[in-house]
Amino acid sequence: MEEIIKTKIVKMDPENIDWHIIKEAAEIINKGGVVVFPTETVYGIGADALNDEAVDKIFSAKGRPQDNPLIVHIADFDELHDLIEDVPDNAVKLAEKYWPGPLTMILYKKNILSDKITAGLDTAAIRLPVSKIALALIKESGKPIAAPSANISGKPSPTEASHVIEDLMGKVDMIIDGGSTEIGLESTVADITGDVAVILRPGGITMEDIVSVLGDCKYDPAIIKCDEKIIPKSPGQKYRHYSPRAKVILYKGKTEDIARKINEDYEKIQSEGKRVGIMSTVQTENYYRGKVTISCGDRTNLLTISSNLFKCLRDFDHMGTEVILAESVDEEGLGKAIMNRLGKASSETINL
Ligand code: TXA
Ligand code: MG
Repeated sequence: MEEIIKTKIVKMDPENIDWHIIKEAAEIINKGGVVVFPTETVYGIGADALNDEAVDKIFSAKGRPQDNPLIVHIADFDELHDLIEDVPDNAVKLAEKYWPGPLTMILYKKNILSDKITAGLDTAAIRLPVSKIALALIKESGKPIAAPSANISGKPSPTEASHVIEDLMGKVDMIIDGGSTEIGLESTVADITGDVAVILRPGGITMEDIVSVLGDCKYDPAIIKCDEKIIPKSPGQKYRHYSPRAKVILYKGKTEDIARKINEDYEKIQSEGKRVGIMSTVQTENYYRGKVTISCGDRTNLLTISSNLFKCLRDFDHMGTEVILAESVDEEGLGKAIMNRLGKASSETINL
């Protein structure tokens, strides 16, 4: 039987740091414990990145495969030199523009980072987050903090404390509730070890953002083409992910065509006695009058959709939905990251 530990839940206004609580949380980290904290992307489950035993607790709390390396969070650019061998110019340029921010850089690691963190790779993933709570915790503990998303492996990442409580209550020492996260999707993971930056996981910092600084950038082929034969460079991308209990069907094509087909399929699936729901947008809600829908956000402001996406998936689960019919969005800017997550959450895609 897995050990159940006492989880302390504390609320904190990100704009008004409660140093008393941060001190308590930092002490937990320094004693090898585990603290969940908000970032601007999703909630992270954090431990001292230089303590293998503490890091092990993250893997067991999440049920995370050992071959999936963790992101190490720092609070100041200079800390990068402690962890990374010969920081390349491209990393300096990207950090100047996008750190703190939702960008994780893959760089050649120093030996101070163990194989446990990097899953035996010679590279490490480093991020400097925006969130004031995250920064305060890293600074106060004086340690780099390893923190994957604070969900059970495979489930949608948590964007509010209730999601964390659902997944990790009794498995972590403390949960800092800092409200809803702003972006709602995990950071962009970009490999900066070569001449040209390669995006391994799309996120809040887009391809266009990176090109504007470095002049060039590519996507890892595995995230452009959903072909099981192409092995993604980021170990985490090979797993099915972000999955609610419900089956997700993703519809791609012109909005009117999608809405027509979703209406048809809804009737059909419902007549088979299954609970079905539609993940719509502000622009398309009207197409589905009288049907079970959750509007994920506004197509003209993709941040409203990214910040709501994982919550929508979890909300359908809470409603007991068995099949979710999800609309696609244009794969531009943040749309690329939204479609990447929807692609991984779904088990079937219908191209119209
Ligand atoms: O926004 C985020 O990045 C959040 C917050 C908490 O910071 N964290 C997060 O961590 O999403 P996680 O563990 O869920 O995702 C880390 C991803 C995984 O896909 C992992 O495989 C990849 O980064 N990764 C880590 N180290 C890597 C490396 N050395 N080379 C390639 N990919 C790596
Ligand atoms: Mg994750």
